[in-house]
Parts: sequence; C-alpha cells; structure tokens
Amino acid sequence: MSNFSSLRDIDRRKFLFGLTGTIGLAAASNADAQPLSKSVLDLPHAANGGQIDENKLWAQVKTLFPLRPGLIHLNSANFAPSSTAVLDTAEALSRDVNGDPSFENRFKFEASIEVVRASLATMLGANQDEIAITRNTSEGNRTVIAGLNLGSQDEVVIWDQNHESNNVAWDVWAARYGFKVVRVSTPHQPEAPSDLIKPFRAALNARTKVLAFSHVSNVSGIALPAADLCRIAAKNGILTLVDGAQTFGMMNLDLHEMGCDFFTGSAHKWLAGPHEVGVLYVRASRIEQLWPSMVTHNWEKMSRAGARKFECLGQRQDSRIDALKVAVDLHNTLGHERVEERIRFLAAYVRTAIAALGKVDFITPFQPEMSAGIVMFMLNTENPRSVMETFYNKYNISAVAYPVNGKSAVRFSPNIYVTTDELDVAVKAVSSLL
Ligand SMILES: Cc1ncc(COP(=O)(O)O)c(C=O)c1O
Repeated sequence: MSNFSSLRDIDRRKFLFGLTGTIGLAAASNADAQPLSKSVLDLPHAANGGQIDENKLWAQVKTLFPLRPGLIHLNSANFAPSSTAVLDTAEALSRDVNGDPSFENRFKFEASIEVVRASLATMLGANQDEIAITRNTSEGNRTVIAGLNLGSQDEVVIWDQNHESNNVAWDVWAARYGFKVVRVSTPHQPEAPSDLIKPFRAALNARTKVLAFSHVSNVSGIALPAADLCRIAAKNGILTLVDGAQTFGMMNLDLHEMGCDFFTGSAHKWLAGPHEVGVLYVRASRIEQLWPSMVTHNWEKMSRAGARKFECLGQRQDSRIDALKVAVDLHNTLGHERVEERIRFLAAYVRTAIAALGKVDFITPFQPEMSAGIVMFMLNTENPRSVMETFYNKYNISAVAYPVNGKSAVRFSPNIYVTTDELDVAVKAVSSLL
C-alpha cells in the first residue's frame, strides 16, 4: 500500500507524465471526451517522461466519465458511474452477440474473460486461478459464508460495522447450521490502529473458525489494519474474509501480502467499472475446502479450475464482464498508487475544509492509517432526508445522509472524477446546514 503524503505535499506535487497522445488535454467537458478505449489507452505512462500538472490530468480523467454536467457525485462508496469507454465496450459487445448469438460468435468470451481474470489478478497481487468474477461484493460474501463447513461448536467473529452482506448474512446461516456469531465493537475515536486490533484479539478463542471484517467500513469510513488482523488470525488457524467493497479500485492492494483467505469487491464502486460485476479472491490453498453455492452447466470443467469453481453461475452478460478490462486498463494506466493518493487527497481536502468550519464532529478518523476514501461527519439535523435534498436540489450534489442518534450522519466518498472545485461547493453546502 502506498504511503499517504500530506495534503500540502500532494498539493504542490507535479506528477511526472509523458505529455503525448490524446492526453494533450482536451477541454474538460463531457462533450469533448474522447471515445472510451482510445483516450484510456492513449493516456501516457510515467516512463515516457515529461511533466503534467496534476489538476489538468484529473480534469482530463473527468472527461472520461459520462456524468451529467454540473453533477457532483460524492457517493462512490455506494455506486459509481462506469467510464464512457466501459459503457461503449459493453454496448458494442452486447450488440455483437445480439447480432450473432451463435456459439461460434460467443466462444471468444472464453479467452477474453481470462484476460480480464489475469488483469484482476495482477491488480490485486493474486494468481489468476485465485480469482472468480462475481456479480458483486454481496455475492462474494455469500459464497464464502454459505460455502464453509461450520457447525454448533464453531464461532465466527465479525465487526459490528460490517455491511449486511457480511453481517446479518452470517446470522441467517448461523440459524441454519448452529454456529455462533460474535460481534466486535471498536472505539468510536480510535487513536491508533492498535485500538482497532485489541477488541478483535480479545474476541478470538479456540472455537473461532472465521474472522470476517470490512477493510473499510461503509458506516464510519474507519479502515481496519487488515494485514495485522489477518496475521493474528492465521497464527491461530482462523480463516479471514476481508470485504473489500470500499478498497477494491481505491487502494493499492496486494492480497498475498495482506494474507487474507478470501477477499470480495464490486466493480461498480471505486473502480468505476461495469455495473453488476464483482470479484471474489480465494487463496489457492482454500479453494478445495470452500463449497460452491451454485452449480450448473460446465461444473465438471469448472470444479477443477481453481476459483472458477465459484463462477459456475449459468448464462451471464459476458459483454459486461469483458468490459471490466477497460476499467482495469484505466486504473493501470493511471497507476494504482496514484489513484489511491488522489482519492486520499480528495478525502483529506474536503475533511480539512469542513473541519475549518468549526462546528462539525467527524465519525471517520483523520489518520491515514485508519481511513481511506470515505469521510463521515455529523450534522445537527434531525432529518437526513432533508440534508440529502438540500445537497441535491440546491447544490447538485449526490451524497448520502442517514439518521444516527437523532442527528444526521453524512458520508462523502469522492472518486477520481471529482475536482477540488466541486469539493469547495460541497463545503459550502455543509456550511449552509450548520
Ligand atoms: C463494505 C460493503 N460491503 C458490501 C457492500 C455491498 O455491495 P454490493 O451491493 O455491490 O454487493 C457494500 C455496499 O455499499 C459495502 O459498503
């Protein structure tokens, strides 16, 4: 994972970039955007040399997305737009198979989806055979939860800030198979990652078989020290499920280094990939012991093909899966560390400006080792719906607010298509509600 540079350092930085080809900085309007694949693939690599102003680079990146002009989308933690290139690729392929639905025409997807799998594996620091392409994080979590042999003598430790698909989903399978679900709470104001590790360590015992947690919580923005937790679990023979919905496509990840057994993510969040495509990583040595929760045509072949065993899901929209490689291409072209730094910069920028307003309590810690792309804070307003309406109707901001203890918890999750000018508008909107 990349180190977080201070806000000031990033602000001053000029990234090294080759200023060739189509990045030659078209005007920043969607109408001027290059057709998808061309502009994505022509983005220059750092190795080409030359300098480019960071703001111009990100303005160019913004043109790759079909967002309605003026809309400030601060909700990638929930749902991000696909790039125009992803959409065009998926649509072109879909038209192609609708024009010629023969097996002969569709055989090509066997090879191209393996290209997607390989690119995901490289991006995540995994082997190609450890990657299954799912619909979303929820499906990946379900595959793990439903696929493990757990019984009445066993315990599963989860974070009470997990998303429902890695939280109440455990309760449903526990009701069926009789294992116990133990929920861990972490301090609201952690001062260091050790404050977050301590309660998990205390909850583990000889009966614990699985430790399942969100890498970054969608309800607080807190980032857990995943590698440390996975190391502690592994030492005690405990399997780990890391829900990466809030880090896949946002954080520069190496799953082998993290040491988890299972990792899940959705392409339609930070990666800004095709909608309803996700990833499930299963460590090679765990593939055998995890049961599939769906079996259909081709099982004979897929059951012997690594994590593809969890991808035996019947007829699918191959065109959309194939388009995932375009999103991964953009990510590779920009560089995983650069994407993470940019998102962390945006989060730090808006958090610093809101903090300067002086009257806001933050839910998300400020320290980079305990946070990522999400910024959450409290507004002293009873009705979160009205907060969202003010953001959307008055300031053209798409964000989320929900009730907590009679107040409104607001979540901003700015992605690579968000500019600092837009964040200034968001700060103005927050200020209007104080
Ligand atoms: C941490 C976490 N896990 C899982 C999910 C579910 O994602 P999906 O609906 O793409 O399956 C979300 C959605 O916001 C999330 O934040």
